[in-house]
Amino acid sequence: MSTLTLLVCSLVALNLQTSLCIDTFKQNQSFIDGFTLVSSNQRFEFGFFSPSNGSSTNRYLGIWYHNLPLTVVWVANRNYPIYDLFGKVRLDENGVLILYHGSLGSVWSTNGARVASSFACVLQLLDSGNLVIRDDGGNKTIFWESFDYPTDTLLPGLKLGWKLDVGLHRFIRSWKTSEDPADGEYSFSLDPPEAPQLVLRSGSRKLFRWGPFDGSSFSGSTTFTANPLLQTMFVYNYQELYFRYEILDESILSRLVVSSTGLAQYFTWKVNSSKEWNQLVTFNSDPCDNYANCGHYGICYSLSSCKCLSGFTPDSPRDWGLFSYSGGCKRKHELNCGHGDGFVKYNALKLPDNPIVWGNYTSHLCEAKCLENCSCMAYANLDVYRNGSRCVVWIGDLVDLKNYPDGGEPIYIRMAHAELDSIADAKRKRATVKIVSVVTVIGVLLLSCGVVWYFGWIIRHRRKDQIGRSSKSQLSGSFQYVEDNQDSGFQLPLYDLETIFLACNNFSERNKIGQGGFGSVYKGQLSNGQEIAVKRLVEKSTQGVEELKNEIILIAKLQHRNLVKLLGCCIEGDETMLVYEYLPNKSLNNFIYDKPKRKQLTWRKRYHIIKGIARGLLYLHQDSRLRIIHRDLKTSNILLDSELNPKISDFGIARIFGTHQLQDMTKRIIGTYGYMSPEYAMNGHYSVKSDVYSFGVIVLEIISGYKNWAFHHPDHDLNLLGHSWMLWNKRQPLEVLDPVVQDPSYTNQIIRCIHVALLCVQQYPEDRPKMSTIYAMLSYDNIELPEPKEPGFCKKSNTKKVDTSASDSSTVNEVTMTTMSGR
Ligand SMILES: *[C@@H]1O[C@H](CO)[C@@H](O)[C@H](O)[C@H]1NC(C)=O
Ligand SMILES: *[C@@H]1O[C@H](CO)[C@@H](O)[C@H](O)[C@H]1NC(C)=O
Ligand SMILES: *[C@@H]1O[C@H](CO)[C@@H](O)[C@H](O)[C@H]1NC(C)=O
Ligand SMILES: *[C@@H]1O[C@H](CO)[C@@H](O)[C@H](O)[C@H]1NC(C)=O
Ligand SMILES: *[C@@H]1O[C@H](CO)[C@@H](O)[C@H](O)[C@H]1NC(C)=O
Ligand SMILES: *[C@@H]1O[C@H](CO)[C@@H](O)[C@H](O)[C@H]1NC(C)=O
Ligand SMILES: *[C@@H]1O[C@H](CO)[C@@H](O)[C@H](O)[C@H]1NC(C)=O
Repeated sequence: MSTLTLLVCSLVALNLQTSLCIDTFKQNQSFIDGFTLVSSNQRFEFGFFSPSNGSSTNRYLGIWYHNLPLTVVWVANRNYPIYDLFGKVRLDENGVLILYHGSLGSVWSTNGARVASSFACVLQLLDSGNLVIRDDGGNKTIFWESFDYPTDTLLPGLKLGWKLDVGLHRFIRSWKTSEDPADGEYSFSLDPPEAPQLVLRSGSRKLFRWGPFDGSSFSGSTTFTANPLLQTMFVYNYQELYFRYEILDESILSRLVVSSTGLAQYFTWKVNSSKEWNQLVTFNSDPCDNYANCGHYGICYSLSSCKCLSGFTPDSPRDWGLFSYSGGCKRKHELNCGHGDGFVKYNALKLPDNPIVWGNYTSHLCEAKCLENCSCMAYANLDVYRNGSRCVVWIGDLVDLKNYPDGGEPIYIRMAHAELDSIADAKRKRATVKIVSVVTVIGVLLLSCGVVWYFGWIIRHRRKDQIGRSSKSQLSGSFQYVEDNQDSGFQLPLYDLETIFLACNNFSERNKIGQGGFGSVYKGQLSNGQEIAVKRLVEKSTQGVEELKNEIILIAKLQHRNLVKLLGCCIEGDETMLVYEYLPNKSLNNFIYDKPKRKQLTWRKRYHIIKGIARGLLYLHQDSRLRIIHRDLKTSNILLDSELNPKISDFGIARIFGTHQLQDMTKRIIGTYGYMSPEYAMNGHYSVKSDVYSFGVIVLEIISGYKNWAFHHPDHDLNLLGHSWMLWNKRQPLEVLDPVVQDPSYTNQIIRCIHVALLCVQQYPEDRPKMSTIYAMLSYDNIELPEPKEPGFCKKSNTKKVDTSASDSSTVNEVTMTTMSGR
């Protein structure tokens, strides 16, 4: 075929198709400059572009955001521009996409041979911005995708990392200049696969580094994990090792880019409201992340001032005096391998570079193995691959340390015997000083006790009179701050007993707004007018007071728009009280089981509530540093703010009682019938999947407006789960829907929610999806859902049986529960 005929053909295709805005392109077809594909969600566009306003007329084949000022996310021929408008693209009979230029012939093509297939293939631009070549039939196998060959942009869903089975390494590399997409100087990648870290490089030189992965985040950075809008995934299996993120709010576009000036930046754009890209985070903005800023064994503090690790001293004090730290530090006492070396534990550090994963050893064995090898300078136990903790060691001098108060895992650093001795001495001294001072203090205290008591009594009586008048001074006098030794930036108000009694009218019945398994809830008002909800815990925590305070501080740090805010606490004598923000709109059960009120809950509102709960739970399970399992999730523990945003309450209380284990067995079953998963109710096994079960129950309750355990049907004795399951199998899922919800336009979404709920309440925990999957399933219609299996606890008799079998443990029974309205 001559060029001319081709051109004419393409022009015909162009005329037929541009007006339609299509996202796929067939085999044996060609298109020329001017034609574009647009993804079906209208977010991305694929075709020819020039990078700038006209100063460069080079043409590139690439992907950019549709209907936004030109923002390129992918370039095919980044190093091989076409100099005029006569580029042509063809998907050939072998399924290879080829870019031709009249005089130059083939300029660029996709690599990779297609597996023999009886189907024709197509090129499609997916909603994620991924350009794929796939079978046009059968299982639509994808055999090439642009997400495998990223340029300078990491889009949500793109897997940064390795396809281990084929040795493919996906990383992003900057443009040469802001106008030239050719390979630039800077790259951002996840490597090496043996001990993955995030590294920003200039050429082959490391500029910045975060890692290694410690099971929940990359050591030294919470940039990703702290963002409630993002959900991050770190995956390791035999085929793949990658890191990726998803954005939880569909109306936000986001991208992570390595700029041609070497900045790793994260941008967002709110659809229909932004006018320009909002640059949210620059990863390499902390000068302390500058690679090896403080040399060997030097720790970088903010504003890039350096200190030596304790036990070390500047190698060249003169250089350090001149603020030149790169020479690092040397040991005060030389190591003497095999003769008394030991390890000292350090917290709050970004872990050093060049970790080596040695294997699945216990921490004792890890220590022993490291001690044996004279070049092994440190070890840590990290969950590097998110599949159980590994023995990670560092061979040779430790480099690129940073003070990181949020820091995750401790590291054990090798020290000489002499150093260990002096540390022990110092400890002993401190202990002696403590004992002496304690004895002194006790003496003094005893003496002054009577006096203080007497004055205290007088002052208290006076203060009561003043409270009404001077609210400000009362407030500042009424609480002191608990210092959190880990993170001096955070302080939690510690209210005194008197303030709380006063605020809650001496805990009169009138102020009581709820009763739960852990104690009663009272409404109160501080003297400054702020309304609070006070939870008075009935039981004693198994922890000491200091430990308890620390625990409460940790929990108070969990802040998320779908969690109730903990404002402070009061621990005095036998009383432990938690002070929360007060939410006037009561709890979810006040709405959904209430005939007049539930009419307010349209499907859109219900869906909003379901997603909010999922988001809050996802945060507790995965994104917060503590990985909290709620264990008593139910509608009365979901509070609603004035805009009906759901807020999970009572989280972390299980921790306050001193049960730290993530997945374990417990003799004391905390929970509520109707919401408890089978494995938890029967055997006391709990895990994140028990919360998932309760979540599923809640979703069905929100959809149907019935309580699971109180559900009645004349024809059978199934509970709500059983009933929904039966309807699902009869292919009439919508019959479970609350009749006051009349919204035919959302039928598909409603069915999808029922489907997801049924997946959550499946009998076996391993069948239930994780919260991250659930959130994705709720957010993206195109994720295929597996068929649910039978729920655990389908029958009412079944529920009753659990009721009796577990009644000797101190469980919370929904029957005796009144509403925990607003807290
Ligand atoms: C493109 O042109 C506009 C106006 O002509 C100018 O304001 C803008 O800065 C230019 N953009 C680039 C990337 O040169
Ligand atoms: C594409 O062309 C090849 C060779 O001409 C032919 O075998 C194949 O069937 C064509 N495919 C389609 C989908 O038309
Ligand atoms: C899809 O079909 C191809 C052959 O047609 C087969 O090799 C492949 O395993 C299938 N993939 C899945 C996920 O079923
Ligand atoms: C943005 O506006 C368009 C047109 O007004 C509308 O169709 C679309 O749903 C809006 N998108 C979002 C996320 O609000
Ligand atoms: C110490 O461990 C490193 C890394 O595993 C190894 O390369 C080196 O040979 C070991 N040295 C000795 C003396 O065993
Ligand atoms: C976890 O990952 C490591 C990586 O080396 C692999 O060897 C191990 O088999 C994995 N363990 C499990 C339980 O998947
Ligand atoms: C680690 O090793 C122990 C004993 O060899 C084994 O029971 C355990 O499953 C291993 N864990 C992982 C995560 O491979």
